[in-house]
Amino acid sequence: MVGVLKRPMDMGEAFMTCGGFVRYFGTNEPVIHIAKVMEGRQPRRVLACCGGGDQALTFLGLAKEHPEVYAFDMNPAQLFVLACKARLLEEGQVKTFSPSFDRISRSNLGRIRALPQDVRRISRLVNIPARKAVRVSADFAGKFGFEVDSGMYDYCQKNVYWANDKRFIMKIRASLAGLKAIHADALSVADWFAREYLDIIYVSDIPLHNAIPFYLERLRALVDRLSPGGLVIGNAEDQQELDRCPSIIEVMRCYKELFGLLEFRQEGQIVALMKTGAKKQKRDKQG
Ligand SMILES: C[S@@+](CC[C@H](N)C(=O)[O-])C[C@H]1O[C@@H](n2cnc3c(N)ncnc32)[C@H](O)[C@@H]1O
Repeated sequence: MVGVLKRPMDMGEAFMTCGGFVRYFGTNEPVIHIAKVMEGRQPRRVLACCGGGDQALTFLGLAKEHPEVYAFDMNPAQLFVLACKARLLEEGQVKTFSPSFDRISRSNLGRIRALPQDVRRISRLVNIPARKAVRVSADFAGKFGFEVDSGMYDYCQKNVYWANDKRFIMKIRASLAGLKAIHADALSVADWFAREYLDIIYVSDIPLHNAIPFYLERLRALVDRLSPGGLVIGNAEDQQELDRCPSIIEVMRCYKELFGLLEFRQEGQIVALMKTGAKKQKRDKQG
């Protein structure tokens, strides 16, 4: 069976062709929790929202031998960031993983840009439910600052639990040939794969904006690319607290019967839903 229907980019190609305006460099997602919700499983084929690329690299380290990890993003600058991080690993960042946006942008002049965070702005956060502005300490703002006008989010690398784990880094290095990039929107990325091809789909906290029937249909197509027993994983941060549009994982969770998904595990804000249903081969035999 041909499982990949369009041609994803390898890291060399992503490095040569991608670029633009970077919004995410590090991650604010606890990737250790992604590893925990998968405990006992070693996927081979993963589709992961790219962002700063740390989640895709984590999946590469957690996967079986000869994995296929497809990082997708609608912003090609994010794919460039991932390609640069992959290069750093390939070229010898073995003992510790400590990429720096400044170094990467300086050594690839004109390829990527970002607006710096305006740290002063995040000394005040708005508590939406209470409709109040809350003053936060400079220390908190420096560490966790999020509210920035189109600035780049560069969360500290502490979130990448394997940043000093030589063995894990070596495992990622050994699997880099299986890391691919896809420039696509979450609602169209299903078209790149055959049915039941993937073991894991990681949707981060991508917002859905509207749960209109067409979007739900596209999400159903995405789940259709997952093998039975496979997982959709996402970040359902501040689910109840924020007055904002729902994320893909929240919508899938809310309509789980419609998508043929079951609640599987949750670690902190990371939620995993499992696809139900018989194996395709069995159904094919019966049919
Ligand atoms: C959802 S954001 C969240 C970042 C995350 N909290 C982290 O720490 O990496 C991650 C990426 O999703 C991408 N993204 C957002 N909406 C998307 C969509 N509909 N399709 C594809 N990528 C999308 C953004 O370009 C961004 O790079």
